[in-house]
Amino acid sequence: MNRYADIPRERLPALLAAMPKAELHIHIEGSLEPQLIFALAARNGVKLAYPNVEALRAAYAFTDLQSFLDIYYAGASVLLLEDDFHDMAWAYLVRAAEENVLHTELFFDPQTHTARGVDIGVVIRGLKRATERARAELGVSAALILCFLRHLSEEDALQTLEQALPYREHFIGVGLDSSERGHPPEKFARVFARCRELGLRLVAHAGEEGPPEYIWNALDVLKVERIDHGVRCVEDPALVRRLAEQRVPLTVCPLSNVKLCVFADLGRHNLGELLAAGLVATVNSDDPAYFGGYLNQNYLETFAALPLDAGHAYVLARNSFEASFASAADKAGWIARLDETFERFRS
Ligand code: ADE
Ligand code: ZN
Repeated sequence: MNRYADIPRERLPALLAAMPKAELHIHIEGSLEPQLIFALAARNGVKLAYPNVEALRAAYAFTDLQSFLDIYYAGASVLLLEDDFHDMAWAYLVRAAEENVLHTELFFDPQTHTARGVDIGVVIRGLKRATERARAELGVSAALILCFLRHLSEEDALQTLEQALPYREHFIGVGLDSSERGHPPEKFARVFARCRELGLRLVAHAGEEGPPEYIWNALDVLKVERIDHGVRCVEDPALVRRLAEQRVPLTVCPLSNVKLCVFADLGRHNLGELLAAGLVATVNSDDPAYFGGYLNQNYLETFAALPLDAGHAYVLARNSFEASFASAADKAGWIARLDETFERFRS
């Protein structure tokens, strides 16, 4: 694979934790830990359906994407004020810094909040303040990607975009998330076309639970630059060839896939297959507070379960920087730090 493949396996856990990396698929509302949900509920006088943290955690037994989303949207109901959005994102960014995440692109779901009467400016200003603070105090680079909820109408997405435009300089792109099955990418053709005209970067969840056709249409109709998840691409060899040839990154989320029953266990995850096919796969946490681990835990458990070595770790971390929407100069600087870390572990 590359010059790092023979770094001894016993050094892998330390290497995976220490290596510089980027996270490109994290829903910031999915980083809301049960303790913070209860603290914010108390602060804001919001009544929750669960009596305490333990009871809430006990409900985190999901059978599919929808069973998770129902609880995830309920958890987000405690977010009302600018400080709530700041505090949630700040907690994630502190954790990211501890895990040697140098750059992160955070998804947020404004419709989850505007539907409850929270102004979109409150959401975006709170998140933006946390990302600016992360750059200044933690040295972590962080950008925001506004996601449209695909279970809602395209009209709702267009209205959300209009509401967000006064804050255009605060987010770098748009994505598409929530219930995948029955809500194909082409439902959002017009709003993505408008975002493209506005110069926004484009991504979409596709091929998590939905079929390969959704990945084709995310590429051909929405014209996205990255596919979130995309693990079902392997069902269509022509699609795998297209993704490899055009170097379309996939933001894969191994622990999420197991928690939402996309794969029965990590030993059956197809990350190794995706890399062997030459795809630009990356590792991400998706909704770390709900799925049993942040980014390093995703790397550690996946490498423990699959026949992956330090050579694969290098490729995954490098892919994470290359697939990001950062500048060429930032990417080069981060990859130089990645190389230094791997050289240190080789000697
Ligand atoms: N929203 C938060 N996590 C998600 C996921 N894994 N798939 C779709 N929508 C989401
Ligand atoms: Zn996701």
